[in-house]
Amino acid sequence: MTPPPRRVKQWLTGQNGLDKLRMEEVDCPAPGEDEVLVEVHAVSLNYRDTEVAMGLYNHHKSVEHPPALVPCSDMSGVVVAVGPSSKNTSDPLKSPTFRLQPGDRVISTFAPTHLSGQVQAADVANGLGGPAPGVLTQYRVFPTYGLVKVSDYLSDEEASCLPIAAMTAWMSLNCMRPTGKIVGPGETILCQGTGGVSIAGLQIASAAGADVIVTSSSDEKLKRAEKLGAKYLVNYKTRPDWDAAVLEATSNAGADIIFELGGALTLRKSFECVKFGGLIACIGYLSGKQDEAGDRTNTNLLCLKRNITLKGILNGPRDKLQEMLQFYEQKGIRPVVDRVFTFEEGNEALKYLYSGGHFGKVVIKVKN
Ligand SMILES: NC(=O)c1ccc[n+]([C@@H]2O[C@H](COP(=O)([O-])OP(=O)(O)OC[C@H]3O[C@@H](n4cnc5c(N)ncnc54)[C@H](OP(=O)(O)O)[C@@H]3O)[C@@H](O)[C@H]2O)c1
Repeated sequence: MTPPPRRVKQWLTGQNGLDKLRMEEVDCPAPGEDEVLVEVHAVSLNYRDTEVAMGLYNHHKSVEHPPALVPCSDMSGVVVAVGPSSKNTSDPLKSPTFRLQPGDRVISTFAPTHLSGQVQAADVANGLGGPAPGVLTQYRVFPTYGLVKVSDYLSDEEASCLPIAAMTAWMSLNCMRPTGKIVGPGETILCQGTGGVSIAGLQIASAAGADVIVTSSSDEKLKRAEKLGAKYLVNYKTRPDWDAAVLEATSNAGADIIFELGGALTLRKSFECVKFGGLIACIGYLSGKQDEAGDRTNTNLLCLKRNITLKGILNGPRDKLQEMLQFYEQKGIRPVVDRVFTFEEGNEALKYLYSGGHFGKVVIKVKN
């Protein structure tokens, strides 16, 4: 293993626009107690990274971002140096179970202190790529508890896609179930659009034997979704009444779980096509964060009339990521990488994601 260089490159955003990111050179950091230095190999992009870069990621009111920030949260890489281990093993964050060795292949977790159970405000305040420094850098120090080992069957690019998009899909499908039970045959899942979260949801739910309905603005993307196992396809541009199309596809029963990714312009329709007793996983806000005046039917009423569970999803804990990784390996699931950019093209990669032209994930290859 070659020793890390003295100086390393990283991208920086002043959160003032997608065209204003800049690259800088800094000293290579050294790991402290219970920390490791990781050579970053690949970084996958999430919609939130574009929002952070534009200064629009502001719905966690208690979280203050520093003025300049290394963007992005999801990386895969290799441990190249290990700091000393703490003697205080009674601290759950210093448990020997987290220890890593040089050469271990790892991925980051989005909110490193979120190890298990319900996410807390303090975990959100540790989120990588805002407010904590992100991963779009050649080398980064991580606490050992903020990394998870990944299997060799995944490429660096594929592995980098898992921490947010796939984890959020896994939690949307499985977080309301008794431990060990996951979504499966006889259930219908509706995935809105063909971005990172949706396509991960399609892959997981199909592998588990559930039926998946995918909506998209593009017939060409719908064909790709079909090849990945989507059973019903709806173009939400040519069928603005996509909720009716979902009911048609399910003999009027509706979907058991809806990946609610659109927000302002889609939630109302999701209520119309969710099954009695079903779950709407509130994940995103691609069509806006503010409701339009107009149909203001009260959300309480919309929930109760079909006995719906409306569940906010905010990524997931480390132990669930490990559970998901086992499922991925068992089923041989490989995340869909739409396009790979070079490290020098980091800013172009963010613009491409924001354009919405992708299917699945956009990745930056940091190490050639
Ligand atoms: N809560 C969480 O933990 C969490 C985690 C990850 C993401 N998110 C949120 O979830 C959303 C998706 O994130 P992502 O990273 O998967 O995004 P992404 O990869 O950028 O996906 C964007 C895709 O969504 C589809 N889309 C856009 N507007 C839509 C609409 N009005 N109705 C249906 N589909 C629409 C489009 O697909 P087509 O081109 O096929 O039409 C677009 O390509 C974002 O709002 C993000 O902030 C939340």
